[in-house]
Amino acid sequence: MKHLIDPTDLSKQEIDQIIALAEDIIAHRERYQGSMAHKKLATLFYEPSTRTRLSFTAAMMELGGQVLGFSTPQSSSAAKGESVQDTVRVVGCFADIIAMRHPIEGAPLVASEVSRVPIINAGDGSHSHPTQTLTDLLTIKRELGHIDDITIGFCGDLRFGRTVHSLIKALSRYHGIKVVLIAPDELRLPDYIKQDVCEKMGVEYRETDSLDDAIPELDVLYMTRVQKERFLDEDEFDRVKDSFVLDARRMSLAKEKMAVLHPLPRVNEILTEVDEDPRAAYFRQVENGKLVRMALIISLMEWKNDPAHKMPEHEAPIINPALHCTNAKCICNNEKHQPRFRLAENGITRCWYCDSKVR
Ligand code: NCD
Repeated sequence: MKHLIDPTDLSKQEIDQIIALAEDIIAHRERYQGSMAHKKLATLFYEPSTRTRLSFTAAMMELGGQVLGFSTPQSSSAAKGESVQDTVRVVGCFADIIAMRHPIEGAPLVASEVSRVPIINAGDGSHSHPTQTLTDLLTIKRELGHIDDITIGFCGDLRFGRTVHSLIKALSRYHGIKVVLIAPDELRLPDYIKQDVCEKMGVEYRETDSLDDAIPELDVLYMTRVQKERFLDEDEFDRVKDSFVLDARRMSLAKEKMAVLHPLPRVNEILTEVDEDPRAAYFRQVENGKLVRMALIISLMEWKNDPAHKMPEHEAPIINPALHCTNAKCICNNEKHQPRFRLAENGITRCWYCDSKVR
């Protein structure tokens, strides 16, 4: 069975297949209307969401299927202390496929280990957000006509922004990708993405703290919100919250065909004066999110019993009681799961569930 927990659970061919299916849905919407009739999607959202949850719901409805679930943990048995694994065992008796968002990193991964239906990670802490990545790839394809050979600037909160982490992972499989990381010191991209993804896969990247310097060379500018809810220190958040603001003046420095993406919600980082600029793609991106989730649901349901679409094989995890995950928001520090580790690039040991460094 195929789950989608991390963007690399999909091969490049599978990603391209899902994007091609989304494009076919756009061209022939009526052909797909009843394709999920009598099927149910469960949306288990332990963290706030507008776009992701509602686009999953709208996607399943457009395919003729039905949706059940919860949008806050307070309205589920999590409030009584039920574990993630027990909850998905239960929900798997009611639904054919599950989309889960959780503030704890690794929660969808442990869910997939016991689930009898496909699990889709709809965002886990600051770790991963693979369905936003599919949305972003479809948007880049539709805006620019291609995904290969682009220079993309990621601007804002590259430390906690899970959409950034996942999109860089996926783009590392494409050809000729150059990445410019635009962030203040406090919000830089985590080392594991730089080392295990960019350096390992040969993605050219550079870091800067000047949007003005970077913007003229970009084909895509990926803006992000500073993730207030992930900061442990409020003063630190206040220092960086308004680091970069995209306005009409900065847009005048950019290429005529640059596309501005943002996973939304925005707070202050894009002024509304940019919305009417034809390069502002972020509201078109929202609609692409529904279309690509339609394609993903169809694909995972089709691949459920197809041995050609298995989860990728990984080396066996390292189990060593002397090692500890340093991330307070990792599932292994929040529920009773045996700490597991993997050997990453440069001989560094990382947590199996959340990729953090190990103590
Ligand atoms: C993002 C998320 O939840 O990670 N939003 C989304 O899914 N569209 C980005 C964010 O919250 O800033």
